[in-house]
Amino acid sequence: MKKFAVAVDGPAGSGKSTVAKEIAKALGILYIDTGAMYRTVGMACLKKGINPADEDAVVASLDSLDMKIFPEAGGQRILLDGEDITSRIRTEEIGKAASSVAAYQKVREKLVEIQQGLAKEQSVIMDGRDIGTKVLPDAEVKIYLDASVEERAKRRVGELEAQGKTADLETIREEIAQRDYQDMHRENSPLCRAEDAVNVDTTGLDIPAVTEKLLALIAEKT
Ligand code: C5P
Repeated sequence: MKKFAVAVDGPAGSGKSTVAKEIAKALGILYIDTGAMYRTVGMACLKKGINPADEDAVVASLDSLDMKIFPEAGGQRILLDGEDITSRIRTEEIGKAASSVAAYQKVREKLVEIQQGLAKEQSVIMDGRDIGTKVLPDAEVKIYLDASVEERAKRRVGELEAQGKTADLETIREEIAQRDYQDMHRENSPLCRAEDAVNVDTTGLDIPAVTEKLLALIAEKT
């Protein structure tokens, strides 16, 4: 089969990564989670005591960033300073730090270069905020996944509860809405739908239904 790329963008909690992983498995292609890279930069800053709001300090720290990405079947592992942090970056605190550092041009330049390098040799499905607009503008398939903020907050609470954690729906809803606002209103690569992306609203749909919908779209376009 000819090499192809699938770009999946959308706001926090729209189901991008869960569905993209399922699709990668079904099609035997690479899954690349770009949000995990911004989260890793955010985590590296917190670890070094750097305020994510301090652009100069964040940018200066990039030279010593020791981040390694290992795409593997149906997923991706990520190492910071040699330590596997794949699951540790999934907190709202690190999501917020990621959203702050993601606003800086120098951070984006560094990560976009890595992302484009990963997609060079093989078929990929990549998710994020700027994949269809900036990282892979020539992707064969572009999808913009969305869902109401209420539904996305409920999903997040469900995930946390499944991990045995308690979560307040209203607090989570507020955090998600704030992060969306920050991602959509920044100067550099704001979250927006690429003109040629297909909009898929996942409100009220479960993972298998969204996966099926996207697989049909991909089959149509590749
Ligand atoms: O997708 P995830 O929630 O893991 O992303 C964390 C943050 O990283 C987002 O809120 C966004 O600010 C940033 N991000 C980005 N561009 C991407 C992926 C993520 O700016 N391609």
